Amino acid sequence: MFISVEGIEGCGKSTLVNGLGQYLQERSIDYVITKEPGSTSIGKILRSILLDKKQQISPLTELLLMFSDRLDHLDKVIKPSLDEGKIVITDRYIDSTYAYQGAGRGISKNIIDNLVSQTEIMLPDRTILLDISPEVGLKRASSRNELDRFESENIEFHKRLRKSFLDAAGANPDRFLTVDAEQEPYNILQSVINKLFPND
Ligand code: TYD
Repeated sequence: MFISVEGIEGCGKSTLVNGLGQYLQERSIDYVITKEPGSTSIGKILRSILLDKKQQISPLTELLLMFSDRLDHLDKVIKPSLDEGKIVITDRYIDSTYAYQGAGRGISKNIIDNLVSQTEIMLPDRTILLDISPEVGLKRASSRNELDRFESENIEFHKRLRKSFLDAAGANPDRFLTVDAEQEPYNILQSVINKLFPND
């Protein structure tokens, strides 16, 4: 099973991903937790460029750097792990590209759709969307560390991201599970586990 976890800044993805990992570990189920961008040695270099506030990066350059990271991630981490029968949980994947580079930076959906089909990247089996208002999410994110190139965008940018994620969830109800991310972390984890592993 290939699972992605998505949402705007400060929505609690890391907490959920860690909780899912612990749940799988306790049941001796093989899994891999990974993230985008930055899960391979090439990806780490791309990530440091992409998050660096000092870099001026055009929207299309940003899009292609994100895709380069994703293709390397698929080749070196995601596909080999799925081939070994592991559950793969990635913190961000393609829906972040539609949100950040599409809705955020203004690249047309058509361009991203074409890249997706030309590169034949695989879609996740399930995507968990942690939905939270940008006001609450950004407050959480800014209390944690210095804001990166994406986090320091204005509130309107983050509102567009949230709408893009919700629109994607609305258009793909079989793939998406949308959870109210203003709930307690324990409740979020339990409701995700109940949906992903209903027989447990
Ligand atoms: P990260 O520190 O991992 O942030 P977060 O904890 O919010 O996931 O930084 C990843 C950043 O990269 C995040 O701001 C979203 C952005 N991003 C894109 O813009 N497009 C993408 O396709 C992906 C995967 C991430």
